[in-house]
Amino acid sequence: MRILTICAEYAPLAKVGGLADVTAGLSGWLARRGHEVVVVMPCYGEMRERGLLADAHAVLGPRPIPGEPGASYTVYRMAGSDRDGAPQVFLVDAPARFAGGVYATGDGEALRFLLLSRAALELAASAGFRPDILHCHDWHAAAAAIMLKGASRDERVFRQTYTALTIHNIGYQGVFDIDVLRRAGEAGLRELVAEEGPGAGRVNFLRAGILHADVLSTVSPTHAREIQTAQYGMGLDPLLRQRRHRLAGILNGVDYAHWDPATDPLLPARYSVVDLAGKRDCRAALAAEAGLRLEEGLPVVGMVTRLAQQKGIDILVHALPGLLAERNFACAFLGTGEPGYVSALRGLAARFPGRVAFIEAHDERLAHLVYAGSDLFLVPSLYEPCGLTQMYAMRYGTVPVVRRTGGLADTVRHFDPASGSGTGSVFLDADVGGLDWALRTALDWHAVPGQWTCLVANGMREDWSWERQGPQYEQLFARLANGGGASAIS
Ligand code: ADP
Ligand code: GLC
Repeated sequence: MRILTICAEYAPLAKVGGLADVTAGLSGWLARRGHEVVVVMPCYGEMRERGLLADAHAVLGPRPIPGEPGASYTVYRMAGSDRDGAPQVFLVDAPARFAGGVYATGDGEALRFLLLSRAALELAASAGFRPDILHCHDWHAAAAAIMLKGASRDERVFRQTYTALTIHNIGYQGVFDIDVLRRAGEAGLRELVAEEGPGAGRVNFLRAGILHADVLSTVSPTHAREIQTAQYGMGLDPLLRQRRHRLAGILNGVDYAHWDPATDPLLPARYSVVDLAGKRDCRAALAAEAGLRLEEGLPVVGMVTRLAQQKGIDILVHALPGLLAERNFACAFLGTGEPGYVSALRGLAARFPGRVAFIEAHDERLAHLVYAGSDLFLVPSLYEPCGLTQMYAMRYGTVPVVRRTGGLADTVRHFDPASGSGTGSVFLDADVGGLDWALRTALDWHAVPGQWTCLVANGMREDWSWERQGPQYEQLFARLANGGGASAIS
């Protein structure tokens, strides 16, 4: 199949969270399977500054940016991305739109991502690339699916194109004053996105994408059910219930070429399920970097996260002081994000010096060190469409303590000491009591060495690879293309 993928993040070029790992992992797997995968993403200012365009060559443009007189965009093909079996990655360079990092604020967000969708379609049209599937990730790319229901549908190259929209995070819908369409030179989309009732006068790109895409998916089976409920649907649940026969839940995969302690070049020592000695070195290295006082055998509880409401940081900062007063363990937290959470975590670290470390940074190497150097890993999310960190933690022999929601529910099984089955500690209630119980339970398991070894090994042996998850996308796309877009998929 020919697949045109549009996304805001793609690892390692531009990464804020799991979206980047997934767009890169899935595209890589599909390309290795022999599909022709074209990825179009922005060239953010910080990518330019890193010199990423130096060896790239221009394939389209300069062309005028719609709605921005005098400004232009150029599309470049990334150097080295024309090998067989690899995705072809194209960067939309438009300094007037993509200054700075991955996300902007205010209407600038809508202007950047409308241009991304438009440029991707222009690229396909000018190159004569006739996609079977247009795969849009999150609201940032939803406009492309909407455009294909409008005038672009008539373009020759898109006659046989079906659109898929994957919802990675329903908490970010892309809602703007509808006038932004005119400013982006995309007034033609107005009819397709116009809303009545409470949404009138605004555009919600995710909602419009859900309405117009031929097929929808989200990143775990449990979350596909959750988003059809008022509790998790963030206002889109009625529409998702209407379109439920077009909605699939496909769990994310892990790219073990980048996430395996046996080969990870970012770690100070390597290890595997048959020889865990290197994990002790990683633990010592983490303690030294984070400034933790470590006694032999003291469990280290890690976390690597965006500091956003979704991630349950409120619960965490309220649950930890009581537990830290009673039980002996240390914490290593790595994250960036909302100032309120940053100061709460700083406060916790100041209150428990040498026992709680908070590193405010976005740092890939440190993230790998936290997965490897910790014994337990916290993911107390209020909602979690899939979650990758718990899967990475398991492979690194670090036992996840997670809330039972979304992909966390689908990937972590509560350990049963009697039978020795299970991979982590799972709690249901999104409150201090729930997390307190789950962490205490895991600390109790840790105190029984034979039991702990078994639990760690169970997690390390799990297989969440793209080889396992990818075929579901392949089947979804094939059914869409072969069934003329009409068949129900769930
Ligand atoms: P989300 O996409 O909601 O942030 P995921 O669990 O799917 O959650 O993915 C998070 C990804 O971002 C993982 O690859 C994780 O290692 C990475 N990450 C999050 N915070 C940081 C950080 N401060 N430094 C480095 N990597 C981070
Ligand atoms: C999102 C979700 C996360 C998911 C990631 C990749 O940002 O919050 O749960 O793993 O996207 O799909």
